[in-house]
Amino acid sequence: MHDPRGREIDYLRISVTDRCNLRCFYCMPSEGVKPILHKEILTYEEITRIVRIAAPIGIRKVRLTGGEPLARKNIAFLVASLKSIDGIENLSLTTNGVLLERYAEELVSAGLDRVNVSLDSLRPDRYREITRGGSLEQVLRGIEKAHEAGLRPVRINMVPIRGYNDDEIEEFARITLQKPYQIRFIEFMPAGSGELWSPEKYVPVDEIKSIVGRIGRLTPVKLRRSGPARYFRFDGAPGVVGFINAVSHKFCRECNRLRLTADGKLRPCLFAETEIDLKTPMRSGVPDREIERLIRLSIEVKPEEHNIGCRDGAPFPKLRPMSKIGG
Ligand code: GTP
Ligand code: 5AD
Ligand code: SF4
Repeated sequence: MHDPRGREIDYLRISVTDRCNLRCFYCMPSEGVKPILHKEILTYEEITRIVRIAAPIGIRKVRLTGGEPLARKNIAFLVASLKSIDGIENLSLTTNGVLLERYAEELVSAGLDRVNVSLDSLRPDRYREITRGGSLEQVLRGIEKAHEAGLRPVRINMVPIRGYNDDEIEEFARITLQKPYQIRFIEFMPAGSGELWSPEKYVPVDEIKSIVGRIGRLTPVKLRRSGPARYFRFDGAPGVVGFINAVSHKFCRECNRLRLTADGKLRPCLFAETEIDLKTPMRSGVPDREIERLIRLSIEVKPEEHNIGCRDGAPFPKLRPMSKIGG
């Protein structure tokens, strides 16, 4: 299905929980955020029903996000249910990698196609600090295991934050010289109340790219399903580097996605507060055609673009915390 601006909407990001087994300082306050009550979280049956209704409308790609999606019990069951729906061609998951070593094989057996792993430092102490307690070793083992188990591609998301980890950009990019991974650098976005974000901490993609470019010549690679990232390869390298300019250069014109929050709201845009409640009507027993109407409605009201970082001094929208949207 196309939205009124001609964008084909074929990608649904589903946040399966707002809970997380880490507390990355830029994502969550140390005490965590007030979790959504269990009874407010969509069941696997409800999620599967929504995807079954969305597939004939044109949703072909589904990504599971969190919080941390692997922290929800028996997520492989949901993977298998979604995989069996006609029309779903690609099923992926965004994870912090903590539980990946344990679950990679089971996820592949259930039908998962690929994973994106968030990793913001390659130094054990710093990693522990940024995530408030995470073990770098465990995540690195998880990444290896994901690749061994056959998940392709394995993407690694790094958010450079000035003064925290921006000195590791080059080291991350160098991983692609050795390993067949896709290392992606994401501009730090103002999320939540925007309090942790400041112009000083934000590192624009142009700057990241010039640091990465010191290593060697970068040739653009055109990947299918490239989404918001732009990809490049060093000569002869097995891996690729990618850049997501979430703030500086809007990719809104190519945006193909909808988001479903763990408590059952469809969000047409990451940066807009518009939410269309699917859970309440579903729980009051409406037929599939009403859910279909609401999904179509959310595509119709998808905003043209966000204006984060576009006007100096423009106030940031008050967003749900990232952990409650799923990135
Ligand atoms: P692929 O399908 O592998 O390209 O996944 P993805 O990049 O869409 O998903 P992932 O969960 O790995 O997200 C990577 C980063 O891109 C996160 O920081 C997301 O918040 C950001 N991102 C994803 N979609 C959007 C979007 O529509 N707008 C903006 N501004 N950022 C987005
Ligand atoms: N800016 C950019 N990326 C973010 N993520 C979480 N919060 C932010 C933010 N403020 C990333 C995580 C993860 C992905 C889902 O979103 O690092 O890789
Ligand atoms: Fe958890 Fe991801 Fe937020 Fe880190 S960024 S606290 S891993 S949801």
